[in-house]
Amino acid sequence: MSKIVFSNVYKSFEGGLQVLNGMQLNIEAGESYIVLGQSGCGKSVLLKCLLGIMKIDSGDILVDGISVKDEKRYREYLRKFSILFQGNALFDSMTIIENVIFGANQVNKNKSECRQIAEEKLLAVGLEKRVFDLYPAEISGGMQKRAALARAIAIEPEILLFDEPTSGLDPITGGIICNLLKDTIKSLGVTALTITHDLKVAEFLADRAAVLNKGNAVWTGRSGDMKTCGNKFVENFHRASNIISK
Ligand SMILES: Nc1ncnc2c1ncn2[C@@H]1O[C@H](COP(=O)(O)OP(=O)(O)OP(=O)(O)O)[C@@H](O)[C@H]1O
Ligand SMILES: [Mg+2]
Repeated sequence: MSKIVFSNVYKSFEGGLQVLNGMQLNIEAGESYIVLGQSGCGKSVLLKCLLGIMKIDSGDILVDGISVKDEKRYREYLRKFSILFQGNALFDSMTIIENVIFGANQVNKNKSECRQIAEEKLLAVGLEKRVFDLYPAEISGGMQKRAALARAIAIEPEILLFDEPTSGLDPITGGIICNLLKDTIKSLGVTALTITHDLKVAEFLADRAAVLNKGNAVWTGRSGDMKTCGNKFVENFHRASNIISK
C-alpha cells in the first residue's frame, strides 16, 4: 500500500498554457481515489506527471515519501505501479494469455510459474479458458478490458491506476467492469487512483474524490457527498452529468 502526495504542483506548456496550477492532492495508502474533471482540464497530464513521463515545473510529487525529482529511485519505485490504459493497450500480435504472461514476467522469471499466474489472473477476472489462446481482436471490448486488468494485476502492483476505465463500453458492460474493478481493489488491498469524467463511476468506485478545475482541485471529499457539497462548480458538474445520462 502506498501513499501519493501532489504538493503545489505546477505544469505549463509552451504558449503559456498553465495546466496544473498549484495542484494539491493527498491520496492515502489503501484508498480508492478518483480525480474527476471536464475534458481538457489536465487529468492525463496529472497521470503522466505521476508516472514521470512528463516533468513538472515546480512543486513535488511524492510516493511513499520518494520524490519524482529523485529520478533514479523513483524509476525503481514505478515497478509498484500498474496502469489500465483507456485503450487497453493489449499487444495485438500476442494471444490473451501471452499478454498476461508478459505482465507476470515483469516480476517473475520462471516460465511455468508465469503461465500459472497468468491463468489464475485470467480466471480471477472472469475470463473462460476458451479465450486464453485467442487474439485481442477476436474478443469483445468488455473481455479485452478484463484481459488488460488481468495483465495489470499480474505484476502484483501496490498502486493501480485506471484511465477512464469504462470509456468505449456500453452502460451494462461498464457497470460489470466497475464492479470487477471495485472487487479487485478490495481483494488486492492496493491504493487505486482513477481518472474519469464519469460521475457515476466516481461515486461507485471511490472512497474519496477530487474535482479539478483550472489546474487545481476545487473540491475534495467523500465521493458520496459531491452532489450536496455546496461548491457551485461541483454541483453544476453533477447536474450536467445527470442531464447527459438521462
Ligand atoms: N504535450 C503537450 N503539449 C502541449 N499541450 C499539452 C500537452 N499535453 C496536454 N496538453 C494540453 O493540456 C491540457 C490538458 O490536457 P489533458 O490531456 O490532461 O486533458 P484531460 O483532462 O485528460 O482531457 P480528456 O478528458 O479529454 O482526456 C489540454 O489543453 C492539452 O491540449
Ligand atoms: Mg485524458
